This record gives sequence, structure tokens and C-alpha cells, in this order.
Amino acid sequence: MRPRHDRRIRIRRFTRTDEEALVTVFEGLSAASRRARYMAPVEDLGSATRSALLDVDDQSHVALVAEARSGRRWEPVGLARYVVDEHHRAELAYEVVDAWQGRGVGRRLLTQLVDQARAAGVERLHATVLPDNVASLALLRRVLPQLRVRHADGLVEVDAWLTEPPLELADVLADLQVA
Ligand SMILES: CC(C)(COP(=O)(O)OP(=O)(O)OC[C@H]1O[C@@H](n2cnc3c(N)ncnc32)[C@H](O)[C@@H]1OP(=O)(O)O)[C@@H](O)C(=O)NCCC(=O)NCCS
Repeated sequence: MRPRHDRRIRIRRFTRTDEEALVTVFEGLSAASRRARYMAPVEDLGSATRSALLDVDDQSHVALVAEARSGRRWEPVGLARYVVDEHHRAELAYEVVDAWQGRGVGRRLLTQLVDQARAAGVERLHATVLPDNVASLALLRRVLPQLRVRHADGLVEVDAWLTEPPLELADVLADLQVA
């Protein structure tokens, strides 16, 4: 892995007006990273996807952007978001431009996002990951040591409780671990 970069990174709230950051980060992803992020060979962000990704409300859809100092400017290098469903489960999605991968940006983004989710009362996080996405699984394990991993339909389903899981479910999970 490349050495940690010495340029400064900052993390800030991603807002509905951050279309430029959204596009800049997308353009910094290689074909492999886009496939990993969108689970399909996406070549450009269509207007529907763009609108959906900009549709943050700081409650059920929360996003952060990581920026690296570049001269006098701050350049977007990564995004992380969660979208809460009706079961209080927050679906995670995140990406770091290829030029900045392996330098701790993903860890900082996800750590801060998880802290915000916890503070907002989110009970459970979920992520769907391609089985060959070693980096994403390593990042999730790093930030969410309590996670549970399940393989289903050729994908890896990751769940992490930010509070204690309901008693019945904890029992089932404990049984599964013993088995
Ligand atoms: C997944 C992704 C966000 C990770 O971000 P990153 O900034 O490169 O990750 P970090 O440098 O913060 O590393 C976080 C941890 O994962 C580990 N890691 C990162 N890349 C790794 C790799 N390729 N192989 C093994 N471990 C890796 C690091 O060692 C680190 O663990 P440590 O703190 O114990 O050393 C980034 O690779 C990415 O954008 N990939 C493409 C999009 C994607 O896969 N999104 C997720 C969809 S589910």
C-alpha cells in the first residue's frame, strides 16, 4: 500500500448543491471502482441517479464529502452516505477516487458517517458488497468490528447494529456463530 499522503484532508457535510463534487468524484473513479460502487459498469451518472444522489435531507439521507487541499482549493476526493429505510436500517454507500485510495480517506469518511448515524439514533447499518471487493470489506471490518457478514445471491450482505440487536435476533445470531 502507498504511504499515507501528507496533504490535508477535510470532511464536510454534502449538500443538495454539491453536484460538482458528485461529478468530480465519479470522474475520479476507474471502471473497476465504478463497478464496485454501483455494481454495474456505469459510464456516466444519468440524471435520475444524479438527482437521487443529490437528494440529501440530513435525516433519512445523510452524506459527507472528503476534500483534499490542492493549492488554494479543496478538491473532492470521496463521498460516503446512508439512506435510512422504513425499518430504521441505514444503507451505506461510499467511494474514494482511485488516486486517493489506500490513504485513509475511506476510513475517515466512514468513521464520521457512522458516528453521525449513531448520534441520529440509527439502529442498524447495512451494505451490499461484491465478493471480490476486498477493500470495501476491509474498510467495513475496520470501522464496524461488530459486523455480521452473509453471502446471498452472489453478493456479500453486511449488517452492523449500532445498538444491541433485539433479544430474539441476538439469540439467532449467536446460534449461527456457534454452528
Ligand atoms: C472501498 C474504498 C472506499 C476504501 O477507501 P480507501 O480510502 O481506499 O480505504 P482506506 O485507505 O481508508 O483503508 C481502510 C482500511 O481498509 C484497508 N484496505 C483498503 N484498501 C484495501 C485493499 N485493497 N486490500 C486490503 N485492505 C485494504 C486498509 O488497510 C485500512 O485498514 P487499516 O486502517 O486497518 O489499515 C475504496 O477502495 C473505493 O472507493 N473503492 C471503489 C468503490 C467501492 O468499492 N465502494 C464501496 C461499495 S460497497
